[in-house]
Amino acid sequence: MTVTLVPPPAPLPARTAPASSRPLDVLGVPGQTNLDHAASAPCARAAADAVAELLPWYASVHRGAGALSRRCTLAYERARQTVGDFFGARADDHVIFTRNTTDALNLLARALPAGTTVVTFAGEHHANLLPWPRGSVRLPVPAGPGEAVRALDAALTELRRGAVAGPPVLVAVTGASNVTGERWPVAELAAVARRHAARIAVDAAQLAPHAPVDVAALGVDYLAVSGHKLYAPFGAGVLLGRGDWLDAAPPYLAGGGATGHVGDATHEVRWTAGPARHEAGTPNLLGAVALAAVCAALADADRVALHAREQVLLARLRNGLSALPRVVELRTFGPDAPRVGIVSFVVAGRDSAEVAAELAGRYDVGIRDGLFCAHPLARRLLAEAAARSGRSDLPSTALRASLGLGSTAQDVDRLLAALAELS
Ligand SMILES: Cc1ncc(COP(=O)(O)O)c(C=O)c1O
Repeated sequence: MTVTLVPPPAPLPARTAPASSRPLDVLGVPGQTNLDHAASAPCARAAADAVAELLPWYASVHRGAGALSRRCTLAYERARQTVGDFFGARADDHVIFTRNTTDALNLLARALPAGTTVVTFAGEHHANLLPWPRGSVRLPVPAGPGEAVRALDAALTELRRGAVAGPPVLVAVTGASNVTGERWPVAELAAVARRHAARIAVDAAQLAPHAPVDVAALGVDYLAVSGHKLYAPFGAGVLLGRGDWLDAAPPYLAGGGATGHVGDATHEVRWTAGPARHEAGTPNLLGAVALAAVCAALADADRVALHAREQVLLARLRNGLSALPRVVELRTFGPDAPRVGIVSFVVAGRDSAEVAAELAGRYDVGIRDGLFCAHPLARRLLAEAAARSGRSDLPSTALRASLGLGSTAQDVDRLLAALAELS
């Protein structure tokens, strides 16, 4: 049999078509306006290049002695190191590659010591509401960041009933809402958790693409992110955090790679410690490497400038929406609360699914419609928007536009012009 070794493919076109390609340019299709970054962000050049570079070396990870396999193993473990460094991992943290944020939070839920009480807020994405064990406490959606901190303090005081020792408590909160883009006071919530000897997990699926997140600086114990929202494709996510609970827990998946020794008897198995304990099966090498490449590119970038640029676009979008008489924005914390580039809204008198379909079909503009996998929060905000606007003709689902790398003022204006016609 003849085997042909093919050189890496030519670079893919960047949406912004730069003369020289930059790592944080994103790929896309000319003519299509993608304002749905919060669902899945476009692929960054850095990720595409890292994958293209590694593809010729494609081989097993942790399983082979050949040169290709060794390179793949090295690339995978370097990716772990890069991602850990990017998120400020401490010496006792594990960086576990998962499929996405949902997978990461489910893994953490399975690793909780027996009797752990989990405290969340009702404004969370389903991924941070549904995995937690029965008996978890779900606090009401707060009216503002200060109220969130006070409510958590009160809840933990009640749970601890004055005694700091007791069964473990895990607080699980989002870094930024996928419905409103509003940022949650993560550092303050972490301080409250610490004061009550509780741990805190942050769902950074929406925060990490827009702002630096450092677990050590924030005082956060666990972090969950999705690569596909962070400009890397291929279904890789991360659970990062304290190794003790993770090493004491049964493996998330049972199988090869997670074992130190398997004997002849049916249940004679010694599970390994460290990230491998929860990564049984052949890992998603390309996903991990792509995610690490984006982390490295973001680490080298001027994040302050990126943030400022996004905030300008966000203000343009929100101002434009507020100028449309039939559009009502959804929000939890108030109009001026800090937020990432996400806005949810409704067009009074128009079905949201129809508006989204018309935006796509007639204007080549892609946004999201629905309840955004945060049904309790979205329903509440729709009711609140109806009360605030005094309108009785708001639809029962919403629209969401979200920005990020590669988004332009033209994209925003195109959406606004289309909405002006449709509403
Ligand atoms: C805040 C938040 N958490 C968790 C998730 C779940 O992410 P994934 O679907 O990548 O698991 C999402 C997805 O939209 C999200 O926005």
